[in-house]
Amino acid sequence: MSFTIVEQAPARLNRSELAVPGSSPQFFEKAAKSAADVIFLDLEDAVAPDDKPQARKNVIKALNEIDWGNKTMSVRINGLDTHFMYRDVVDVVEQAGERLDLIMIPKVGTAADVYALDMLVTQIEDAKGWKKRIGFEHIIETALGMQNVEAIAAASKRNESLHFGVADYAASTRARTTNIGGANPDYAILTDKDERGERQRHWGDMWHYALARMVVAARANGLRPIDGPFGDFSDPDGYRAAARRAAALGCEGKWAIHPSQVALANEEFSPSEKEIARARRILEAMAQATKEGKGAVALDGRLIDIASIRQAEVLVRKAEQIGKEAR
Ligand code: GLV
Ligand code: MG
Repeated sequence: MSFTIVEQAPARLNRSELAVPGSSPQFFEKAAKSAADVIFLDLEDAVAPDDKPQARKNVIKALNEIDWGNKTMSVRINGLDTHFMYRDVVDVVEQAGERLDLIMIPKVGTAADVYALDMLVTQIEDAKGWKKRIGFEHIIETALGMQNVEAIAAASKRNESLHFGVADYAASTRARTTNIGGANPDYAILTDKDERGERQRHWGDMWHYALARMVVAARANGLRPIDGPFGDFSDPDGYRAAARRAAALGCEGKWAIHPSQVALANEEFSPSEKEIARARRILEAMAQATKEGKGAVALDGRLIDIASIRQAEVLVRKAEQIGKEAR
C-alpha cells in the first residue's frame, strides 16, 4: 500500500438513484415509497426554465413535509453557468437543509466550481449553526469535467460520489449518437474474413474509456462511482447489461430515470448469493492458509492469494451493508 491513505466517503448504499423532476410533485409520494437507495429531486434538465421557481418551491416543501424514511435525499441544482443556481442552493439549503443529505452538481467543469459551492454551502450551514455537513455528488458530463475529473474528485471534503452523465457527455464531446446510454451500432469493427469469406461485426462499448476513467478518479479519492441514465426504459435487458458492465468496472450503482429501473439497479448492484458464498469460502481458505504460513493456495483449481482476501472482503462488506440498510 502507499503511505497515502485514501479517506473513504460515508458508506451509503447507492445501488439505485431515482431521478424525480421537481416540477412533478405528483410523483414524490410514490418515489418516497419506492425501493430506491437515493432519490434526487431535479431542478435542472427535467424542468423547463419557466417552471424552475415553482419546482424549487415544490422541492423545499417535499423535503420538509414528505416522509422519505431513511432514504438518502439529494437535489440536483442548476449549473454554475445559470442564474438559477445561487437561489437553488440558498433557498433549498436554508429552507430544507436539515433533510438534505446531498447536493448534485451538474456539468461540473473544474475544481474551482466545487470550491465555490463549498464556500456557499458552508456559509449557510454556519449561519444556521448546523453541525451536519451536506455532501456533494458531481456529474461528470462534459469534456472539461472529464479532463479535470481527478482535481474535481479531490476538491472538497464534501465530495461523496461521481456520476457519469452520458447524455450531456455525448453532447459535449459531439459524439454521434442521440441515445441516452446503451450501445451504438456505429461503434463497431469488422473482423477479417474467415475461411468462408464471412466477416463479423463486433460492437464495442463507446463509453468504456469515460466510465473507466471516472471510476479510477472516484476510487483514488474514496468516492462512489455511479453510472448515469439509460434512456430506453422499455428495454430492461439493455438496462441490466449496461448496469452489469458498469458494476464490472467498479461502479456502485446506476441512475433510474423511470421507477421500473429501480429494482433492476438494486438487483444488478447487489452481490448474488453465489458470489457471497464464494467470497466467504475464499476468506475461510485464506484464513486456513495464513495459519499454515502460506500466502497463496488453490481453491476450486484456481489460485487465490492475499489480494483475493481484499476482493472477497469488499463483496462481503457490501452484502452486510445491504442487509443493514436495504429498505
Ligand atoms: C445526465 O445528466 C446526463 O446528461 O446524462
Ligand atoms: Mg446532464
